[in-house]
Amino acid sequence: MKLKVEERLIIHLDLEKDSYDIVIERGALANAKDYLDLDRKVLVVTDDGVPKEYAETITSQCKEPVPVTIPQGEGSKNFENYKMLLSKMLEASFTRKDCVVAVGGGVIGDLSGFAAACYMRGIDFYNVPTTLLSQVDSSIGGKTAIDLDGVKNIVGAFYQPKKVLIDPDTLNTLDQRQLSAGLAEAVKMSLTSDAELFERIKNSNDLSADLGEIIKGSLLIKKSVVEQDPKEQGLRKILNFGHTIGHGIEAFYDGKYLHGECVAMGMLPMCSEDVRKELQPVLEKYHLPVSCDAGREELLPFILHDKKMNQSTISVIFVPSIGQYEIREITSEELEQYIPQ
Ligand code: GLY
Repeated sequence: MKLKVEERLIIHLDLEKDSYDIVIERGALANAKDYLDLDRKVLVVTDDGVPKEYAETITSQCKEPVPVTIPQGEGSKNFENYKMLLSKMLEASFTRKDCVVAVGGGVIGDLSGFAAACYMRGIDFYNVPTTLLSQVDSSIGGKTAIDLDGVKNIVGAFYQPKKVLIDPDTLNTLDQRQLSAGLAEAVKMSLTSDAELFERIKNSNDLSADLGEIIKGSLLIKKSVVEQDPKEQGLRKILNFGHTIGHGIEAFYDGKYLHGECVAMGMLPMCSEDVRKELQPVLEKYHLPVSCDAGREELLPFILHDKKMNQSTISVIFVPSIGQYEIREITSEELEQYIPQ
């Protein structure tokens, strides 16, 4: 798929001393050294599901590259890989002046970002997202983490990258399922914050023509939310829309569904009847699942394990009409009523 996007777009994320640019440019991988300081030791982290030429293109521009490839999938976001990345840096005598580059999707960004946040109390981190999900959402905003004992993202840090370099050409090699899973996160942002973006996704007849605007629209929402609430004290919770039930489904099925597919299923119960009627056909149009076999009894223990469960209540996001949201503080008993039987 050849995307139609503007020649180059730079979105500045204003976070005072942690501010950075998100550069979106077709073919940007080949020009990475124009944007990233690679004239030092660079840990280049990727996974075996990412076409290897992407990380090689970055590695070839580094003065002293240390390339690492881990197995694809959420299972890699673990303590062993985190320790392995730290050991690689230590073995190669990385100092505070060196850096980490993540080349891949959300798993690679979260894991490498966390290693960068912790090595010598924090070294420079660059994110080069190559999936739609990471380009519209996870590479921005500084959430880094690993999973522990089956609980997703339970150990991590807010650690902003020094730059995010998005090359939309990398989406040309992404399969339809991954593309749709990424689109689910764009749908998520449109539902809480931008009815026009939702219409664009809903009415698209040619995703390759519209994806550039969809990425841009999603990034502008993410920018605005993260700038107002970088550490998820309030507003940023809206980016977790669909994730409470979604994370439960993801944990219960343990790898059967992609993260974005779980978000798609997790959004539907958190909308008004009218929004659900509009949303379901859009998810189906992009071949996203809208329900799963597991019922309330099976999912609830996995949902309550989610880190957002805060003593007696949990914050969930509800969409009463497209482009609007409510942050609801509910008990676990009330949450049960949202989960389909
Ligand atoms: N992906 C949700 C967030 O960045 O807050």
